[in-house]
Amino acid sequence: MVLLSKESSNKYITKINTQHDSSTTEPVFKLKIFSNQNVILLFKKKFIFRLKFCSLGRYLTKTAMTTSSSLHTKRLLLGITGGIAAYKAAEVARLLVKKDIDVQTVMTESACKFIGPATLQALTGNTVFTDLWDSRINNNMAHINISRDASAILISPASANFIAKLANGFADDLLSTLCLARNCPLFIAPAMNRQMWEHPATQRNLVTLQRDGVLIIGPASGAQACGEAGMGRMLEAQKLVEEMLIFFQPKLLQDKHILITAGPTYEAIDAVRGITNLSSGKMGYAVANAALEAGAKVTLISGPTFLEAPSGATLINVTSAQEMFSAVKKGLSGTDIFISVAAVADFLPANNSNQKIKRTSSNISLLLAPNPDILEFVAKTPKPPFCVGFAAETENLEKNAEAKRRRKKIPLLAANLVPNAINSDKSELILFDDNGKHLLPEAPKIEQARHLIKHVSLLYEKWNK
Ligand code: PMT
Repeated sequence: MVLLSKESSNKYITKINTQHDSSTTEPVFKLKIFSNQNVILLFKKKFIFRLKFCSLGRYLTKTAMTTSSSLHTKRLLLGITGGIAAYKAAEVARLLVKKDIDVQTVMTESACKFIGPATLQALTGNTVFTDLWDSRINNNMAHINISRDASAILISPASANFIAKLANGFADDLLSTLCLARNCPLFIAPAMNRQMWEHPATQRNLVTLQRDGVLIIGPASGAQACGEAGMGRMLEAQKLVEEMLIFFQPKLLQDKHILITAGPTYEAIDAVRGITNLSSGKMGYAVANAALEAGAKVTLISGPTFLEAPSGATLINVTSAQEMFSAVKKGLSGTDIFISVAAVADFLPANNSNQKIKRTSSNISLLLAPNPDILEFVAKTPKPPFCVGFAAETENLEKNAEAKRRRKKIPLLAANLVPNAINSDKSELILFDDNGKHLLPEAPKIEQARHLIKHVSLLYEKWNK
């Protein structure tokens, strides 16, 4: 039971309610309003706390979040060690907070030489801890208490010295001690001079950390603060935050096998010419990344693109629709979900030539034959996986898309208008399923892909019952 002063009730009750989903967890708090300035919190196990009114908001928010941490909380412990890249940690904190992640900062003594704790406190709204012996922690065990609510720890930057400490289990300051005492995943973003990075001792330490399950993000190569250039530059704040957001994605499709096609196909006319289309592969690769984030095992069958392979996916490169078809048939066994994002050429030259066709001054004709419809084939197999199609249309988007879904007999189809979606970083999607249509307003493709994966996971669960 939580007893609130009258003045504070509306504001904070709203907060508590939004943190709890009564359908998924039993209520942790009951609210009652008192008209004095002190607040009494009564918890289920009958612990009683008295709080001053001014700190109630954060306390309640945090307590509510802690109690339902597996459901709603995204809390990160940001560790900062001594290095010039420490200034980037402020931006990391700012971007994480913007994404609704509660950031608790812990800094080493050296980190405080590069950036002030006050900056991090202001950006995160949380007290910054620097001292192993911080007596503000009731039981004086900062190294245990501070990390217990965290979903993960990110050390950014992680200096060569701190990496050495971690690899050898040293615990001589707050940050190294809490890393040793942690019960959550640890990410490090190394940052150091290139010679320090290349030094066998650092490389040995990194191998040890990897063996211990520490996740290493970066570094990148480039200009360094010391004036040299090479490996050891910390990744930019945006990139680090993206990695953390991936970590925080709910694992909706844990261990499901997902087969995805992406990109265009290329149908050869002769040795140097062919028929293709404007698909860049961005949407298909985004779907692959979102599926990986959701914990799926992903096989990506890709037509020719210039994109980086999503890390963690099995990538199969193909050129033509026929090759894509063969790869899909091979990969089908054990597939739970098939997502057909590829812009497969509907036709191929009926008679292609191994040699370059010579120029003539008269007309020549090109006979086209239909390619197999890969999605339709998969959907018609005796025990098909859950099939998701895409529809690229130039007109009558909704009518054509829904007709396509019914014709191909698939449970879900994502429709987009080609001029906006193809070879672009953003798209607007309309999802069609048996319940009707669902608009996903224009957004970056990775965000659309995450929405799509969420939608797939909901439908798949019902479909698979
Ligand atoms: O790659 P990007 O630049 O990011 O662009 C993304 C995209 C616009 C290509 C993508 O969002 C998209 O719409 N992909 C589907 C393109 C397409 O071929 O649409 P379609 O309406 O022709 O085909 C319908 C469905 O059947 C698609 O799922 C397609 O993969 C599949 N199909 C089509 C033809 C064929 N021979 N075999 C198939 O499997």
